[in-house]
Amino acid sequence: MSLKAMKIIFTLFGVISLASCTDQAAVSQADGSAVSPATASSEETSGPMEVERWNSAEQVVLGREVFAQNCAVCHGAQAQGTVEDWREKLDDGSFPPPPLNGSAHAWHHPQEILLRVIDYGGEAMGGKMPAFIDVLENDEKLAAVAYFQSFWTDDIYQQWMQMGGTN
Ligand code: HEC
Repeated sequence: MSLKAMKIIFTLFGVISLASCTDQAAVSQADGSAVSPATASSEETSGPMEVERWNSAEQVVLGREVFAQNCAVCHGAQAQGTVEDWREKLDDGSFPPPPLNGSAHAWHHPQEILLRVIDYGGEAMGGKMPAFIDVLENDEKLAAVAYFQSFWTDDIYQQWMQMGGTN
């Protein structure tokens, strides 16, 4: 067994479940263990990336700019979030913008869903994220995703691929 595989298995077993996560059912593994996104904290941003990603380095560079101009105001410049607890509803009952750096649950959503949120915003879910369908080009939306995913550890990225990812 490779070191990488062992590391993943240890992560799978060693973690605690994220109680308030709405997609909890989806993160349970076939063997019944639960997976937590907690391996990525806001201090510990990009770990060493050994797993091949869907995107290019150029997309991350473009994405950094797109993100800075369109997303950082709510999600933080490094997608670390702008509130202390993204699970806690605001006074108006809506949810604050979550971190997208792998510490919240953006990684539970396959690419298609991430892009749908960016296109249509959160209104359909009673949320406050604005729609970007007429604001950004498709390559800019993809770049923004590549940028915030650049903060995901390989473990988180592999979980995401297993849960749909780019498929
Ligand atoms: C005005 C604040 C605001 C801006 C600007 C904004 N978002 Fe959001 N975003 C939110 C909020 C709030 C949510 C939670 C859903 C909701 O309430 O609409 C969210 C949710 C998301 C999610 C889903 C995360 C998850 O864990 O399910 C993604 C992905 C996302 N935003 C990406 C982006 C990207 C990329 C941009 C820039 C192109 C952006 N957002 C700009 C406020 C914002």
